[in-house]
Amino acid sequence: MRDEFDEPQSTLDSNPASAGEAAVPAVSTVGQVPAGIRLLNRDFLTDAVNLPDGSIDLIVADPPYGLGKDYGNNSDMRSGDDFLAWTRSWLELAIPKLKPSGSLYIFCTWQYAPEIFVFLKSHLTMINEIIWDRRVPSMGGTVRRFTSVHDNIGFFAVSKDYYFDLDPVRIPYDAATKKARSRKLFEGSKWLEMGYNPKDVWSVSRLHRQHAERVDHPTQKPLEIVERMVLASCPPGGRVLDPFMGSGTTAVACARQQREFVGYEINESYCAIARERVSSLPVAVAAVSSASAAQSDPLTAVES
Ligand SMILES: C[S@@+](CC[C@H](N)C(=O)[O-])C[C@H]1O[C@@H](n2cnc3c(N)ncnc32)[C@H](O)[C@@H]1O
Repeated sequence: MRDEFDEPQSTLDSNPASAGEAAVPAVSTVGQVPAGIRLLNRDFLTDAVNLPDGSIDLIVADPPYGLGKDYGNNSDMRSGDDFLAWTRSWLELAIPKLKPSGSLYIFCTWQYAPEIFVFLKSHLTMINEIIWDRRVPSMGGTVRRFTSVHDNIGFFAVSKDYYFDLDPVRIPYDAATKKARSRKLFEGSKWLEMGYNPKDVWSVSRLHRQHAERVDHPTQKPLEIVERMVLASCPPGGRVLDPFMGSGTTAVACARQQREFVGYEINESYCAIARERVSSLPVAVAAVSSASAAQSDPLTAVES
């Protein structure tokens, strides 16, 4: 395993698959992993001990689902009680990393969500269950039950005083709807001007092979989903942990939105993809100066 992925490194080839992610005002760090973004080619379960407790604002966890996916390792070959025991073990490592105002999103499936949510409710406060409708088109498939087209996302917080900012993730109303709500009653309503709450069913297409954002990872998550979590649940300049970063979607969201990031991934090729994706962004993590990161950052322990 290599662990130099957190060092700024040049990118020789540009990544056409990431082109759709380059929509943010350009500054100057193209070709380098931005300061404050740490991509670790390490096993979260054995390395979490190096991450200080209480240092994380937000955990975005997209672990193996227990469905037998091939990640170039056997990490998704557990099932049943074995899978649930493993899930509890990494959650017990991850939860203490959160600050008192921190929160956690966990992607999972309907098969295991009930047990995982019950476990999490014994440690944290449950805020939402979000249903990600993957917009899977109708096809043949199963005839013995209804076709499953969603992932379950649990949203939990350490306390009732958790950080949450709805404004950056509001969905603007179109002109016609605004006009239809033009009665005096609605005048000056913040929700009408700034848009509405995204609600708890998120209908976002999965990344099919032709999608501009798609890279070579079998379960890459759409940036739109992860960016919404980061914007709503991590303060600007705050720090996000992704224990299973895969192709680095959470890292990309953090680099674009000026949050710090630390992520773990055991597959070296996926780490390289993550590095390529964040290095290709025309964006600087302005809120994170490398100088202050080096001097006063409790995460330096992670890299030693
Ligand atoms: C569901 S994928 C994450 C996908 C990611 N959200 C993305 O958008 O690309 C889970 C990842 O966890 C990695 N993984 C499995 N066990 C791990 C461990 N113990 N520590 C770190 N990464 C691990 C797998 O190799 C896989 O790439």
